[in-house]
Parts: sequence; C-alpha cells; structure tokens
Amino acid sequence: MKKDTLLVHRGRKPDENFGIVNPPVYHASTVTFPTLAAYEAKPKRPFDGVQYGRTGTPTTFALEDAVNALYGGHDTVAVSSGLAAISISMMAFLQAGDHALVADNVYGPTRQRTCDTLLKRSGVDVTYFDPLKPITEHLKPETKVVYIESPGSLTFEIIDVAAVAAEAKAAGALVLMDNTWATPFLFRPLDHGVDIVIEAATKYIGGHSDVMLGVITVSTEEQFQRVKYTANAMGNCPGPDDCYLGLRGLRTLSVRLERHQKNAIKVATWLQGRPEVSRVLYPALKDDPGHALWKRDFSGASGLFGVILNEVSKDAMALMLDGLELFAMGASWGGYESLIIPIELAKIRTTTEWSAAGPGLRLHIGLEDPDDLMEDLEKGFARLTAA
Ligand SMILES: Cc1ncc(COP(=O)(O)O)c(C=O)c1O
Repeated sequence: MKKDTLLVHRGRKPDENFGIVNPPVYHASTVTFPTLAAYEAKPKRPFDGVQYGRTGTPTTFALEDAVNALYGGHDTVAVSSGLAAISISMMAFLQAGDHALVADNVYGPTRQRTCDTLLKRSGVDVTYFDPLKPITEHLKPETKVVYIESPGSLTFEIIDVAAVAAEAKAAGALVLMDNTWATPFLFRPLDHGVDIVIEAATKYIGGHSDVMLGVITVSTEEQFQRVKYTANAMGNCPGPDDCYLGLRGLRTLSVRLERHQKNAIKVATWLQGRPEVSRVLYPALKDDPGHALWKRDFSGASGLFGVILNEVSKDAMALMLDGLELFAMGASWGGYESLIIPIELAKIRTTTEWSAAGPGLRLHIGLEDPDDLMEDLEKGFARLTAA
C-alpha cells in the first residue's frame, strides 16, 4: 500500500470494535486473567499481548502498528516523549566502555542531557563529528552507535545518510537517526541503511501542540527486545490519551505537511530577499548547500527552517519579536501554528565552527495564510530597523 493509504488504514480495527472507526482509548494498569494457567502463561514473544498497563494496551499497539507500517520497520515502541525515545534508544545499545559517535548538529538536549550527562555518567565515551564530512577517522573498535539527525533541527544541514550508514556498518556500529523533521512521510531512514529511527511524535505526528510522545522503530527482533526492555525497565510508557492523539494526528499528516511545505517555501523565499536577512537555512531552497542531497533522498520538506539575520542588537531583536501577532515564541514545532525563537548557534557545537553574520531565528511555518505571516514579519522587520 502507498503511504497515504497506510496513514488512513493502519492502526485501527473497526471489525473488532463494533464498527467504530477509531480504536478505543484503554485506560489500564491492572489486567486480570481468568485462570492460574492464563496468569502464569508466558507469551510466545516477550512483551506480546496485553499484560499490564506499562507494557502497552491496544491503544498503544494501534499507534505502534501505524508508525511501524509507515517506516517499513520490524516493530515500533511508543514512549512518553521524543527525548525519552532518544535516551532509551541510546541506553538500549550502549554500556560502559562503549563509544558513541554523534553528529555535531543534533537537538540540544540530545547532546547535553542524553550524551554529555546520562551516557558519560554511565561510562560511555561520546565524541561529536562534523555532519558534512565522512566519519572514517572518528570510528573506533569500541564504537557501537553512530547517531545522526538530518536535517539538524537548528542548522538544517543534510547528512549523506547512506554514506554514513555504510561506514558505520562496516565498522560494526548501529546507526540511530532522529527523523523528527521529515517524519516517515518525507524520509524513510531504514531504506537508507539506518538501523533505528527515532521520532518526537510530539511534533508533526501529534500535529496540534497538545501531546508529548516519542516513537522508536527498529529493524530486527533483537533490537526490538532491547528497546522494549529498556523502556519497560525505565518505567516509560506513554499515556493512552496521548497514543490516541498521536494516531489521530497521523491521519492528516500528509495533507498538513503538504501545506506546511507550501507555506514555508513561500515565506523562506520571501525572507531570502529581505535586506535584514543574511541567510536562510532550509534545504528545500535551490541555493541551500544541502539541496542536492535533500532532493536525492527526501520526498518533501516540513515547515521548520532557520534564518540568520545581519548584525542587530538584542534590544532591536526583542522589539521585533515581542510585537509579532501571529508568530508566538515557544520551544517545539510541528503543530498547526507558526512559531519563532531566537537561536544561538555558535554555542551549541564543539567540533564544527559556526560563524554567522548576526543572530539566528528558527521559524516554524504553520497553516495560516502565508501572506498574513509575511505581513507580521514585515512589521517586525520595521521595528527591528527602527530601533
Ligand atoms: C529534533 C528533535 N528531536 C527530539 C525532540 C524531543 O522531543 P520531545 O520534546 O517530545 O521530548 C525535539 C524537541 O524539540 C526535537 O526538536
């Protein structure tokens, strides 16, 4: 089945549910068994079936089934947030004495909280690599995980995923990728040599800024058992309402992404022509350094991109941002609404130098009319230059 059809049909079984279109929301901790034999019976496969709330209910399994079908994975584990998906995957495949090689452009908390705190505290050596260069010189016999994000959610470089995956594989390392920007709708990492895909379903899968959710899709049974065991051992389980909302968001992922892309390209192209803007970081634009790779690998772009302004004072920037009417300031993205935040790119890297004319902004272009969004920004630029 094509991906639009999978989006509509996977993760629901009306024939087992009175013909009702969507799966029920099971609120459950305790699951009871009618006999001692049933209580003591071990499932053929660990974690299969409905055992206890923490290991999942039919609502969880419905979301996992749909996401897994979209990614073309072996199986999928839903967890309580994107960052939980990142930390659980890393902890599942790394232990003391191992080395993890991580792209220098990853999401900030992946670096600060998962890698530099949890992993280092567990005795894992972590080094960062330039996402635009081959990883050969950084691979060690102890390298068990190569972790990437493409495009990086702040600087938007596109990684040659297949090339990195081939090098990692030859060195015996697993490749983990955060695919939150693209979702399975625009890029399927497992088809390009990635072993484990992570997505913050909080963003585009949820799509309405009202859910915290993460998904981990693996390519083998052994990987599934490790990830599921680690999530369970850490007591991580997503709430049933959040799984339901994730699944509900998934149904419209395709049409929303199409509009996010259309609007974002219009706003990004307009921004390129503004005198206040030094550079737009968005691989969907023809002159972006990542455009050729993006075109080769991705079937579209989402609505998140960066902008580097010419040098301006912090006060001027505050005047611009504080007065915006349609763009709200807030972390996260992937909802139906537009967002803008300042980003300090130079501070978030250790391996690659980042030099830019002025401060950075990250924009999420929502589903509003892009003409209204440009008008909002234009008035913001007027406040910026008047300051
Ligand atoms: C690229 C990326 N990955 C992961 C996450 C973490 O997701 P969550 O906020 O659901 O923990 C975020 C959140 O902003 C993100 O931008």
